[in-house]
Amino acid sequence: MQNPDARKQIEIKNLNLTFNKGKKNENKALDNVSFDIYEGETFGLVGESGSGKTTIGRSILKLYVTDSGEIDFEGQDVQTMKKKELAAFRHKAQMIFQDPQASLNGRLTVENILGEGLDQAGYSKDKKKRRQKVLDLLHMVGLNEDHASRYPHEFSGGQKQRIGIARALAVKPKFIIADEPISALDVSVQAQVVNLLAKLQKDHGLTYLFIAHDLAMVKYLSDRIGVLHWGKLVELGTADQVYNHPLHPYTKSLLSAVPEPDPVKEKARRVQSYDPSFEKDGQERHMVEVEKGHFVLGTEAEVDRYKDEQR
Ligand SMILES: Nc1ncnc2c1ncn2[C@@H]1O[C@H](COP(=O)(O)OP(=O)(O)OP(=O)(O)O)[C@@H](O)[C@H]1O
Ligand SMILES: [Mg+2]
Repeated sequence: MQNPDARKQIEIKNLNLTFNKGKKNENKALDNVSFDIYEGETFGLVGESGSGKTTIGRSILKLYVTDSGEIDFEGQDVQTMKKKELAAFRHKAQMIFQDPQASLNGRLTVENILGEGLDQAGYSKDKKKRRQKVLDLLHMVGLNEDHASRYPHEFSGGQKQRIGIARALAVKPKFIIADEPISALDVSVQAQVVNLLAKLQKDHGLTYLFIAHDLAMVKYLSDRIGVLHWGKLVELGTADQVYNHPLHPYTKSLLSAVPEPDPVKEKARRVQSYDPSFEKDGQERHMVEVEKGHFVLGTEAEVDRYKDEQR
């Protein structure tokens, strides 16, 4: 967090969510998840496929009904919001989706895709002004006037993701959930989109929840990082604490999978495997604050061991 006086924008407390409750394919996707996101920060959420990252994002936007727990946005409980409050909330909080192709309506031109967002925000019906606003949005994300009349399939993956970002920006949000916004892109394009997101954050004072598989990418963007495994947060701390001083064996295994740019270090790198079976032993585990702002999930004995191993 750049600003120590920053206010909490999002507060998530003891969130639980089960898909297909009571059925054979019951799936506990979120297990007692708690964390806060401060105004103006980027909170990175990492974990392997199926760990519950998207489920957290969608729960924040009230796209899912949770079993229990609380989600507050600027002090207001999201889950009990009525239609009118919810509409106002959905202008302030937007999501950039995992798959840019599937999230854009293929039958609309870019001008109309962005125009839809502008209409939702109650933007002027004056055609000229609206057109100008569409062009402003395109410039903001590094596209231009010629792109306005085209359809989504006429764009590259990176350009599509830029359109997704422009659409999220159309309603002038304060908070953006970026759900693996770069995983579907070429490595060369990934950096461009990351830089764009960072610039937009600076220019518009945005708060981000940035979701990714890859800890290396999250580290560059995030002020703080949460590590998710099987629907549980296992570690939470500043980017430096989690990346350079990890405590939980799962975080360590994720880090050991990140290639080193230095060939000597890369040669010495050993991938650490993680055996998650102990998580199912029925013992109670809590998030323990090991140093200021740095939390790890474990029993008392495990946390002591993690601290010893870190030294
Ligand atoms: N709509 C749904 N109905 C039933 N189960 C679901 C649904 N959405 C997700 N799940 C299950 O919940 C778990 C968490 O899924 P989620 O999509 O949140 O994972 P993720 O961390 O975003 O994974 P990925 O990195 O692959 O996007 C998975 O086991 C998934 O199969
Ligand atoms: Mg996902």
